[in-house]
Amino acid sequence: MNTRIFPYLCTPVRGLRLPNSQLSTPNFQLSTPNFQLSTFNSQLSTLNSQLSTLNFQLSMLYDFDHIIDRTGTNDVKHCALQEHFGRTDLLPLWVADMDFETPPFITETLRKRVEHSLFGYTITPEELWTSVRRWLLDRHGWAVEHEWLTFIPGIVKGIGMVINALLERDERVIIQPPVYHPFRLVPQNNGREVVMNPLIEERDAEGGLHYRMDFNGLERLAREPKNRLLILANPHNPAGIVWEAETLRRVAEICAAHDVVVISDEIHGDMALFGHRHTPFASVSEAAAQCTITFGAPSKTFNIAGIVSSYAVVPNAALRERFFHWLEASEMNAPTLFAPIATIAAFTPEGEEWRQQMLRYVEGNVMFVEDYCRDYLPQIRPMRPEASYLVWLDCRGLGLDHDALNDLFVNRARLALNDGEMFGTEGRGFMRLNVGCPRSVLHQALEQLRTAIS
Ligand SMILES: Cc1ncc(COP(=O)(O)O)c(C=O)c1O
Repeated sequence: MNTRIFPYLCTPVRGLRLPNSQLSTPNFQLSTPNFQLSTFNSQLSTLNSQLSTLNFQLSMLYDFDHIIDRTGTNDVKHCALQEHFGRTDLLPLWVADMDFETPPFITETLRKRVEHSLFGYTITPEELWTSVRRWLLDRHGWAVEHEWLTFIPGIVKGIGMVINALLERDERVIIQPPVYHPFRLVPQNNGREVVMNPLIEERDAEGGLHYRMDFNGLERLAREPKNRLLILANPHNPAGIVWEAETLRRVAEICAAHDVVVISDEIHGDMALFGHRHTPFASVSEAAAQCTITFGAPSKTFNIAGIVSSYAVVPNAALRERFFHWLEASEMNAPTLFAPIATIAAFTPEGEEWRQQMLRYVEGNVMFVEDYCRDYLPQIRPMRPEASYLVWLDCRGLGLDHDALNDLFVNRARLALNDGEMFGTEGRGFMRLNVGCPRSVLHQALEQLRTAIS
């Protein structure tokens, strides 16, 4: 089975699924007297596209089109609608988990353990670390030593822990907005000031949106002795940027030169799209390795955020000593029973196969959004993500202010997306759309938006 020989097969079909009966009775006849070449060509092209769809479906082991009812699971995406949007009748495309079923081989492994029926204290199995190390080496060419690794109970919590373990009360945190909002909120809620080095927005020749880092701005901030920690989203959320190794090397040079520790949050690192390759920050140079705490997890990629299974990688011995000691003092490094089980099941050849199929489906969804916006919502310009299932929608063409934009999405289109401003003022006029869902749901959402705008 190879889904990659047919990359075009991922071309979205507007949620349209062709019944098999239709495929077996192609609607063209070469023998008809009124046969015309143009009609034949057009029918052939239709048939080709139908065959492509069928091929794609046949090569998929997993059904990402299936809609799963999450009622009764207390999922944030549905259950926090009232609190965040003031109403519950919204199609939720916000919180960054996927609406796809967690891979069955993970569920099966967990089920087997549940059937044992005794859930006492457990140790952390060695196999967790062999799995993580093998995965990082195979997927990203990053060789990680066993002693560099520790469990952490979530990446957002991990950020708070690093802040409390390493920073004095008057020391500050650097972030590069627009960026994942807990990078700002966690330090602030832990009493630390956050300073901003905004990304620079650029347009290519076709008018496409890009961001680059402001190295001069970073250097200026890094030079101030109280600015001690940079939190980096690698790949980036919300814009889905896969940072180039050269960019990361430059960041490492600046931070290492000024004794700034870098948290490289690589939770989206296993989801590079469209031929992009994720580069672990700590792998780009010795300077990077020595100043970095990397956070990773199978949670986003395999849709197991609720299991809570994350890890930190810290090559620098002095940094590791401080951080690991802090974790250990309160047993923050002890996973729950199910975390290693799910992680070990995810980081396998089966997991790799599922990951590939999921990513191809997500790419199809991204292209679906691009086509739909081009054809029906030209005022909205999606930025193609290089990683993950979040699409940064530039809605500035609608000419609406912040409140009016939210009103359009929430009260008129009945959609729950993340408002761009939550990622920083640089996100004003943007919305973040989660496309980790069946294509028919995405189609429905875009139709609702189109109706609301027209
Ligand atoms: C960049 C980034 N880091 C961390 C998280 C959350 O990680 P955790 O659930 O492990 O706290 C998210 C979730 O959206 C994210 O996008």
